Amino acid sequence: MTGQTAPAAPPVGVSVDVPAKINPHLGVGDARADGYHALSTVYQAISLHDTVTAEPREEPGIEITISGEGAGELPTDEGNLAHKAAKLVALYAGIKPAVKLHLNKRIPVAGGLAGGSADAAGALVACARLWEVAIGDAELHRLAAGLGSDVPFCLKGGTAIGTGRGEELTPVQAKGSWNWVVATTDTQISTPECYKEVDRLREDGIGRYSSDVGPIVTAFEQGADADALARLLVNDMEAAAVSLRPQLASLMHGGLEEGALAAHVSGSGPTVLFLATDVKHAVALARRIRMRGGARSVHLAHGPVAGPAA
Ligand code: C5P
Repeated sequence: MTGQTAPAAPPVGVSVDVPAKINPHLGVGDARADGYHALSTVYQAISLHDTVTAEPREEPGIEITISGEGAGELPTDEGNLAHKAAKLVALYAGIKPAVKLHLNKRIPVAGGLAGGSADAAGALVACARLWEVAIGDAELHRLAAGLGSDVPFCLKGGTAIGTGRGEELTPVQAKGSWNWVVATTDTQISTPECYKEVDRLREDGIGRYSSDVGPIVTAFEQGADADALARLLVNDMEAAAVSLRPQLASLMHGGLEEGALAAHVSGSGPTVLFLATDVKHAVALARRIRMRGGARSVHLAHGPVAGPAA
């Protein structure tokens, strides 16, 4: 075997893909005493995802590197939710963290798609696997909920009803797959900013709490076609997002003119989701929305997909 190179050593790191979330139904209630708003939402994980890789580090510490969407804008220290997640796993295991985390981002930053929460969920799972820490489902959920309201769902993926502040999950057995065109914009909206705008509009008598998730849950369980789903999409934050970023209205209107079945602000925005009939329709619709301009980037996605701890 002289002259031959030894086979490359197998990678020692752990990589997990974590999907973005959308909220086909997002009902926002009043602010609670703790400042969070009561939610009645239906989450769905879509195929747009970040990849979180955890590799051992010789010296103690949590080192974060980021590539892809918004890499330059995100903190790599304790300000990054993935950093907090790694610390929590180490604390739970009673060890000193020593890890290099790499976030390869495709989920737009501050876009209403839970990109930061997805990275936190990915870091929980990747660190637990790297350090061989056995964390039960309930404990993992507790750690996730402590990191953010959307993090528990980002772990599980699929489709689920979210109540409480979004962290209490009831899985939904969705029968089928739905196709979306995801249009990001040049602006960002911070989640608290959008909740504040919801409150402000409510004081002016604009908007109400859409607490009933029943119809859309039934539609998912029965495998409704996209036309039927289009009529059931709800987002109580949409008016607030459009009020904060009025340019969203023309992006939404443009997509509808190009044949989207529905235009739906994703979470607190400003990403806009366009529902398509099927994959073929989604491809054509994405091309037309791209050509029209007004979106920063246009992606194809389908859901539901599973999360890293499904
Ligand atoms: O839970 P998370 O840290 O992701 O929430 C970010 C912010 O969004 C909160 O500090 C709060 O201002 C707002 N929020 C809310 N009601 C929720 C979820 C989030 O008001 N149900």
